[in-house]
Amino acid sequence: MNKLTWFGHATLGLETGGFKLLIDPFFSGNPAASATAEQVEADFILVSHGHGDHVGDALEIAKRTGAQVISNHEIVTWCAKQGLEKVHGQHLGGGFKHPFGYLKLTLALHGSQLPDGSYGGNPCGFLLTTNDGKKIYLAQDTGLFGDMKLIGDEGLDLAVIPIGDNYTMGPEDALRAVKMLRAKQVVPIHYNTFPLLQQDATGWAERVARETDCRAVILQPGESLTL
Ligand code: NI
Ligand code: MN
Repeated sequence: MNKLTWFGHATLGLETGGFKLLIDPFFSGNPAASATAEQVEADFILVSHGHGDHVGDALEIAKRTGAQVISNHEIVTWCAKQGLEKVHGQHLGGGFKHPFGYLKLTLALHGSQLPDGSYGGNPCGFLLTTNDGKKIYLAQDTGLFGDMKLIGDEGLDLAVIPIGDNYTMGPEDALRAVKMLRAKQVVPIHYNTFPLLQQDATGWAERVARETDCRAVILQPGESLTL
């Protein structure tokens, strides 16, 4: 059983095979957050890049819960310098069999500077093959790129992609992404957090339904999807 929860912005929870994953845990200062950093539990925390709205409360939550932080080499090295002992670094194109499944870091077209100005390496997305064989792609922050076709070749059960525009793909490019990814279901994120990211997700979902075979699922912050 796999349960994906959207906490608002790009902050996700994924429960898979009894493990609790948090992805880009931005709760403090997130006007859309449906929970607080003190309320959430985690066994693993995945960080896609160094920006403050993605590293978020990762350090505090990892210290409180004992969760392992998984990210690129540069970001986990930075986390270790802040006192975290349980970290795992990977890099683009590299996969590793974690207790919760096989996790590969994927390309993302974005930046990755850390909140204190440190170099955060390359930004990434995540491709997870769960222990029960589901393929879940979490694009996190990225612009459109043609190699999404290659990610789609993996046969995705679920894709989570940004639609907010300005910092990431907007609705038009996100629709093109859906066509390349060919996932069974898609969940839009990274929108409506701030006025700058205001989007009509329902209208976008209608276009996905009209133009593709993919089912777009619009979650409200705090809502979940089971697969
Ligand atoms: Ni970002
Ligand atoms: Mn962001």
